[in-house]
Amino acid sequence: MSRVAYVDGRYVPHSLAVVHIEDRGYQFADGVYEVLAVVNGHIIDEEPHLVRLARSLSQLRIVQPVSDAALKIVMRETIRRNRVDDGIVYLQVTRGVAPRDHAFPRLAKPVLVVTARRKRAIDPRIADDGVAVITIPDIRWRRCDIKSVALLPNVLGKQLAKEAGAYEAWQVDQEDCVTEGTSTNAWIVTAEGTVVTRQAGNAILNGIVRLAVLDIVRRENYSLVERPFTVREAKAASEAFLTSTTLDLLPVVRIDGEPVGSGMPGPLSRKLRDCYLVHTAAAG
Ligand code: PDD
Repeated sequence: MSRVAYVDGRYVPHSLAVVHIEDRGYQFADGVYEVLAVVNGHIIDEEPHLVRLARSLSQLRIVQPVSDAALKIVMRETIRRNRVDDGIVYLQVTRGVAPRDHAFPRLAKPVLVVTARRKRAIDPRIADDGVAVITIPDIRWRRCDIKSVALLPNVLGKQLAKEAGAYEAWQVDQEDCVTEGTSTNAWIVTAEGTVVTRQAGNAILNGIVRLAVLDIVRRENYSLVERPFTVREAKAASEAFLTSTTLDLLPVVRIDGEPVGSGMPGPLSRKLRDCYLVHTAAAG
């Protein structure tokens, strides 16, 4: 089946989907994006994704090119045309096409691109066995709350993880505290059973799965603190896990080669993963 992409007002064959070489996303990474999960043909947590998109755009002073209602229609049509039951929708808005000049162009029209694809299911063994992470310095800018397409430090970090035989790299700030993964949020469970994840702020992307898991943790009455945690604390934790739209919730069983807790996925991570999958199945 041939794929279809939505590019600046038109549905085009994926292989012919192009943007101009002077699109500011291409030249300056001057744009933002969202990745939304599709389960049983339904978009998961669409509203918070749209709220985050609007926020990212407003922070960069890019005008949202179409209304939320129109965006919902485009996403559904892209899902339909690509026959995605379980997968992801990717959407990106850049400031538009203009002769290269750092300051905002006066006349550029923001460009919207939407794609959808089936997701290769995460091998259940990965969730059963848990994954390894390494720690790396966080070399990103100070507005990681904006879901910008400027992902070079994240790309380099993920590559380092891959080369180290790990699944993700947890980025560490100058106080030796974990900010987040390169494309995931980071969590630990202390020896006392308190769930800890860094508070929302400029140092992390406020993940939509993060928000859903926070709701679950509160609903299930687990002890919870949103605060920074050090690498040392993470290594001494009884459990650790990561969250993102593309991975759901995955237990972390090794940090820099050292086992977390028993070195096996912990009970709370497994329970929260199950609850999160119920949340997506209910929406789907
Ligand atoms: N990444 N932190 C970073 C830096 C991210 O890039 C992401 C998402 C997250 C988790 O956010 P959410 O729960 O909304 O998916 C945290 C997406 C999936 C990506 O770049 O592919």
